[in-house]
Amino acid sequence: MVALLKDAVPVQAVLGTQWGDEGKGKVVDLLGETADIVARYQGGPNAGHTVEFDGECFILHHIPTGILRPHITCVIGNGLVINPDSFQEEIAFLKGKGISIDKRLWISQNAHLILPYHHLIEKVAEEDKGSETLGTTGRGIGPAYADKASRVGIRVGDLLDPGRLAEKVAWNVQMKNGILEDVGGKGSVNVKSILDSLRYFGERIKACITDTSWMLHQEIQKGKRLLVEGAQGTLLDIDFGTYPFVTSSNTTIGGMATGLGLPPRKLDRIIGVIKAYTTRVGNGPLPTELKGAMGEKIREMGGEYGATTGRPRRCGWFDGMVAQYAVRLNGIDVLAVTKLDVLDTLDEVQVCIGYEYRGKALDHFPLTMSVLDEVEPIYDTMPGWKTTISDFKRYDDLPKPARDYLERIQTIAGIPIGIVSVGANRDQTIWME
Ligand code: GDP
Ligand code: IMO
Ligand code: MG
Repeated sequence: MVALLKDAVPVQAVLGTQWGDEGKGKVVDLLGETADIVARYQGGPNAGHTVEFDGECFILHHIPTGILRPHITCVIGNGLVINPDSFQEEIAFLKGKGISIDKRLWISQNAHLILPYHHLIEKVAEEDKGSETLGTTGRGIGPAYADKASRVGIRVGDLLDPGRLAEKVAWNVQMKNGILEDVGGKGSVNVKSILDSLRYFGERIKACITDTSWMLHQEIQKGKRLLVEGAQGTLLDIDFGTYPFVTSSNTTIGGMATGLGLPPRKLDRIIGVIKAYTTRVGNGPLPTELKGAMGEKIREMGGEYGATTGRPRRCGWFDGMVAQYAVRLNGIDVLAVTKLDVLDTLDEVQVCIGYEYRGKALDHFPLTMSVLDEVEPIYDTMPGWKTTISDFKRYDDLPKPARDYLERIQTIAGIPIGIVSVGANRDQTIWME
């Protein structure tokens, strides 16, 4: 095992390999020790990234978790969608904890805004789908990205041009109220109240708005170390995830280039965060899902309830097909395995080493949803370690069955493990040497 993650490289990215909530927040926080800048490239307040240290628990939604380390500058890239209200609440929460964003937080002028009509439209669409509902976080993410793709979105930079902002908001409100009326009068929005709150928001953040792509290039040129923070996970990617049960952005590594304006060649290392088992919140296929008592046991032991919505997460065994897919798709160099401690009490653990479809083994993760719905996971059963491992600091101290389990994950993924997380706290971490 040869991954020295304690040694920083100039530019590295951390992203989720499963369906989100892998523990990216904790891993970014750990690596933040040797970074100068932390930048998010996609998503919005659908994300909930948790960091715990010194008895405090922080959940970040828009703002990179780097904000928790005073030496770090944070960047919100053009690939994000921002909800002005919850963004201001997040800043207020941080201020309440003594964390300042002054001259430490920069927002791309090209990032898009989530506005009240996005929430209404998402609610109507979700309700209309009945049993086919996606189970979104209800944060207006899909409709905001839809407006971006339709070229009618309101961008952060528009806040600096009040005349143009008023025109764009008025046009959107008229269109959206028409749509809401057509689907049965499911609410309406008001130009004045949206403009009032956007003007206030603009005043508050105008000093943070900049061309973040240019800024990042300059800082990298000066030798500053950049850590890129992904949100959601590979299987929630709009192109490569379990469509339509996905989010509306490219969560995979390509999203980093377009969501920050950073050429892929700049990347020195890609770190994939992977939970020692699998979870998913929201609907859609989950081949290794445990629907009975074992699923509930893992949920309780892992505290698997959404950091953003509080919804119970669906739980299942570690899925090697997903791991291989994520490694291939993102070019991951090294894994950070999280929540190994959650499996501490189990007599045995299962690892999915492949899928069978209509009696035949598949050689890679299928993109066709009807196939994925039908696949049967092939499992290897391994003995549990029946030991509390949360205080262990060295790999060699772990019980042999736990090491065997990690080595199995490493073999399946075909890349080394650099970090093993054995608890939510910063110090509950084993760094591989
Ligand atoms: P993210 O969205 O990928 O940042 O992950 P979340 O914050 O949504 O969910 C991960 C949860 O697991 C959080 O509550 C973390 O505090 C917690 N966590 C992270 N690593 C570990 C670990 O190794 N062990 C345990 N028990 N909890 C962890
Ligand atoms: P982090 O960054 C887990 C899921 C939702 C839903 C689907 C679409 O904390 O890992 P959306 O609101 O994005 O349109 O919902 O994606 N989802 C997440 N699941 N972690 C997340 O973020 C998620 N963000 C969105 O539950 O299934
Ligand atoms: Mg989360």
